[in-house]
Amino acid sequence: MENLLEQYRYFLKDTIRQTIDFRLTDQRKGVSPPPTEKPYDVNSNRIELMTKEHWHSIANIDLISAIQNRKSHRHFRDEPLSLEELSFLLWATQGLSTRADEATTFRTVPSAGCRHALETYLCILNVTGLAIGIYRYLPLEHQLLIVSINENLSEDIVTATFYQPFIGKAPVTFIWTTIPYRMEWRYHLAAHKVIALDAGHVCQNLYLASAAIGGGTCAVAAYHQEMMDKLLEVDGNNEFAIYLAVVGKI
Ligand SMILES: Cc1cc2nc3c(=O)[nH]c(=O)nc-3n(C[C@H](O)[C@H](O)[C@H](O)COP(=O)(O)O)c2cc1C
Repeated sequence: MENLLEQYRYFLKDTIRQTIDFRLTDQRKGVSPPPTEKPYDVNSNRIELMTKEHWHSIANIDLISAIQNRKSHRHFRDEPLSLEELSFLLWATQGLSTRADEATTFRTVPSAGCRHALETYLCILNVTGLAIGIYRYLPLEHQLLIVSINENLSEDIVTATFYQPFIGKAPVTFIWTTIPYRMEWRYHLAAHKVIALDAGHVCQNLYLASAAIGGGTCAVAAYHQEMMDKLLEVDGNNEFAIYLAVVGKI
């Protein structure tokens, strides 16, 4: 047990960096970088999201108050989120600032080595104009891709989160997956800790941005790995869920 604790604590340290021969990473070996966004079938139906110029209902809130008042919310008004509000939250958590080159994007959140090894899925139960289902955010296009339409999603997400009932009532749950190779390409064994750190920034932006839509958020890290990956239709190895957060109106 002691050994196991040491092993897990080791993961949080940066000692690993001293053991890596960075000349042997795929990046240094000249392997082309993996895409900054998970590829998709360009013929699939996509939903256009709203860009900044069209956000009229997003409040210009005071940052100091938003930070001061930040707390987790698990109970929401029985009210949908609008596409405008959702567009804003997606931008705030993963939106693009600039695209440096084919494989490098700067976004509204920081990322180790600018690798952005996360993908955003949404469990949508109540957003005006969108059917109940799982969707994926495409940050490069600022569009949503439909993963699956599922009338039983409320029950399925509760089951996949070890029966946390508030998740089945939230209008939207953000589910972040990682595609670890995007980070491993550059950092090899030093990739995994920084992927977890990156997820924290994303969720904190969601907490603060939710305040601007009269909403609230609650981070969720307790979920059934295999069930969640199945719900998202990801393989559980090259891509898997790492963090969730519910959002709704308070
Ligand atoms: C990494 C992380 C994982 C969490 N997982 C859960 C969870 O699975 N279920 C839940 O109800 N709350 C979860 N929370 C919310 C915490 O319980 C909450 O942040 C904590 O009680 C402090 O409350 P506050 O956020 O209002 O300050 C999580 C928070 C974080 C940061």
